[in-house]
This record gives sequence, structure tokens and C-alpha cells, in this order.
Amino acid sequence: MNVYDSARMADVLAPLGFVPVDHAEGADMVILNTCHIREKAAEKVYSELGRLRRLKQLRERAGGRMILGVAGCVAQAEGEEILRRAPYVDMVFGPQTYHRLPEMVARLGRAAGAVLDIDFPTVSKFDHLPDPGRNQGATAFLTVQEGCDKFCTFCVVPYTRGAEYSRPVADVLAEAGCLAAAGVREITLLGQNVNCYHGESPDRGEWGLGRLIGAVAGIAGVDRVRYTTSYPADVDDELIAAHKDVPELMPYLHLPVQSGSDRVLAAMNRRHTGDGYRRLVDRLRGARPDIALSSDFIVGFPGETEADLRATLRLAEDIGFTQAYSFKYSARPGTPAAALPDQVPDAVKGERLAALQDLLNDQQRAFNRGCVGRTMPVLLDRRGRRAGQLVGRSPYMQPVHVTAPEALLGTIAELRIEAGHANSLSAVLATAGYERRAERACA
Ligand code: 5AD
Ligand code: SF4
Repeated sequence: MNVYDSARMADVLAPLGFVPVDHAEGADMVILNTCHIREKAAEKVYSELGRLRRLKQLRERAGGRMILGVAGCVAQAEGEEILRRAPYVDMVFGPQTYHRLPEMVARLGRAAGAVLDIDFPTVSKFDHLPDPGRNQGATAFLTVQEGCDKFCTFCVVPYTRGAEYSRPVADVLAEAGCLAAAGVREITLLGQNVNCYHGESPDRGEWGLGRLIGAVAGIAGVDRVRYTTSYPADVDDELIAAHKDVPELMPYLHLPVQSGSDRVLAAMNRRHTGDGYRRLVDRLRGARPDIALSSDFIVGFPGETEADLRATLRLAEDIGFTQAYSFKYSARPGTPAAALPDQVPDAVKGERLAALQDLLNDQQRAFNRGCVGRTMPVLLDRRGRRAGQLVGRSPYMQPVHVTAPEALLGTIAELRIEAGHANSLSAVLATAGYERRAERACA
């Protein structure tokens, strides 16, 4: 979502003459868009600010100016504290106020001192954002839902991103239409809790995510739809049916489980059990047998025992994830879990994380290797590091590398998978048509 928000910041700043550049050196404005989810991410902000301070001073010595901003959830959570620890910062603003960036920049021009804007405005920022810029690649994010009311006891999101909100269907479809007109072929619908989407529909009713996916998939030019991140207890029949009925919906689902232990899940205030999650996966596989499942895990939640960890490992074994993110529990100020007794020592968290990651990495490698010999449609959306190489995503979200002519950038090519690695696949062009085009382009 921060990638999406950053793109929208670029859209609101464009009328002021700002264009994105690749490096902070020499930039007129640098905005750090920050994440508060774990302590490590939040701490990075201050070390990065130290580096940017030197660039800002260099620029001032040369007679120029560099506006330095901190955006995102660290800004929202720490506000004034950032200006205290880093007084050279010019703007601090949260995820809900970046549409006011032009105003903030104007205020900086008029008066001395920094701008702090971390309200939760009553009017949605989406009503003030321009259409997405035309400078799009083949894939794009589209925020349909924001905020969260679930209050998992470890999580800062309900405090930093605020209450749950769904954008009206018409707004989402208009933005999707703009993206498709700009050449986007794959849209990922975003929300902290995307599957609790319940946006106002054109007939003044409400649509859930399943229906919204169908409508986005129906827009001319949209070949692929994805969505993230989902909350297990909110997966409904309509969403499961979309995996069966909407061919554009990719067979991949990121469905954080966090733990396999019912005791820990209850302490986390998650509204599902290990078996509830297993049953849900059975239903999803009933609708779309090849669906690839990814997840988030937290180890070392306060009070977690070795038996709890074994339950998590068992759940991972039962499901068979194709990819996953796993983290050591990080106590976040102001969240209920941070005040719980029985915090797990860091060394124990490290051992548990290693055990879980060994299993998850094995599963991912096995899935990738199992793809060898298969032919799949891959949306080639960027250039690879090596000359002549393009990279795209398989339907199952694996990065796929292929040597292919530049003309195929932004297209969906049939690729034959030749090798499966830890995190990616290597492939060759599979169809005769593409091979002929490849030869022509290379000749
Ligand atoms: N400590 C560790 N991991 C966390 N996450 C959220 N809050 C914390 C925390 N306090 C993880 C969860 C979530 C993902 C985005 O980040 O697994 O799904
Ligand atoms: Fe955080 Fe997700 Fe729980 Fe909401 S549902 S509180 S975003 S972990």
C-alpha cells in the first residue's frame, strides 16, 4: 500500500512541476514513506533521515533547497517526535493527508518552520486525488479499502491507518478504467483488510469484494486481477466463487494465518482457529484446485510455548504454502500484546523463526521445482538485470526470468519453465509465434 500511496503522492505533486527521480542526490524534494508495523522498519527511518540530512546540507551549501518529508505510518504514530529527533525535517504527514501535499509545500514557501499534518480527516482523501498518471507500467495497485477494525493485539494498523473504510464501487471502477486506458493489464486491489470490502454500489446497495473483482475483471484491457491482504474470518462465499467463476482472477491468495495454535490465535484476537483456517483452504481449493497460498506468521508472541510452535509447524505442513513471510514478534508501543507478561526472549524467537522458515523455504522450493516442465502465461512487466532478460509474474506470483525480445515487455507470454529456484523460476518462450518474433527481433 505504501507503493500505491507513493505513486499517488507523485500524482498530486505533478501539477506543481515535480517529477519522480531515481536518486535522492540533487532532488528538490525527498519524501520517506514509512512503515510502523515492526520496530526494525520504524527504526530505519531515523538512520535514513541522518543520511538525507547530509544531502540536504550539501544542497543548501550549493545555494539550493531540498524539502524533506516523512510520510506514512511512522509519521502518523510519532508526529511531533520526528521533528524533535530530526529538526531538519520540513514536513511530517500521515497516510490520510497526503492529498494536501500541495498546500503543505505552499505553506513551507510562505512561513518558516515545519509542517505537521497527521489528522484523520472526515472527508476521504480519495475524493481529492487526481486520476492516476498515464505513466503506468503493465501492473498497478489500486486501493479499494483502508484501515482496520480488527484490533489484533500485536498490530499497530488500526491506530496508524485508522478505522475501516471502503471506497464506493463507482470510484474504484473509474480508477481501474483509467489504469486500463493507460495500458495496465494487471490490477491488484489493495486493502489492509481487502476482503472486508463493502463499498457503496451504483444502485445504493453494497458490494462485497467478490462482486467488485468480477466488475474490475470485466473492464476492457484488464487481463488479470489480484487482491491483498485478506483476513481469514472475512472470506465469504462470493469471494470463493469468484476464484471459480472469474478467469481473470489469478489463482493466488495471500491469507495471513499468524499462528497454528488456537491458544495463541485467541490471545492475538484473531477470529479464526487452526482448523477453521484448514476448512477455509479446503473450500478455496474446491473452487480453484490449483490456488497457491501464501501467508504471514508471527513467532514468539507473548506466552507462546514450544507446543504452540509445533502447532504452527503442523498447520504449515498441512496446508503447504507456496510462499510466506514470517516474523519475530515485535512489541509495538500502545498495542495490548506489548503489555502482556511472558514476553519471549529474542534468542528463543530466533530459534523458532529459523525452524519455521526452514519448513516454509522447503515448501516454496518444492513448489517452484514442481513447476519445471509446465507452460504458463507470464505477464512480462520489467527488464531483468541481465541484458536481453525480461521478468514477470506467473499466475501463482512467482517471479519468472526469461531471455526475450524487448517487444514482449508489457505482454502476457506463454513460457516453459526450465528451472525452479528458491524464490523464482527461469523459463524459455514456449509458443512458436513468440519464438519467431524473438528471432526477428534478435536478427
Ligand atoms: N510483530 C511482528 N509481526 C507483525 N506483523 C504485524 N504486527 C507485527 C508485530 N507487532 C506482521 C503480521 C502481519 C504482517 C503485515 O506483519 O504477520 O500480517
Ligand atoms: Fe493488523 Fe491485519 Fe489484524 Fe488488522 S487484521 S489488526 S491489519 S493484523
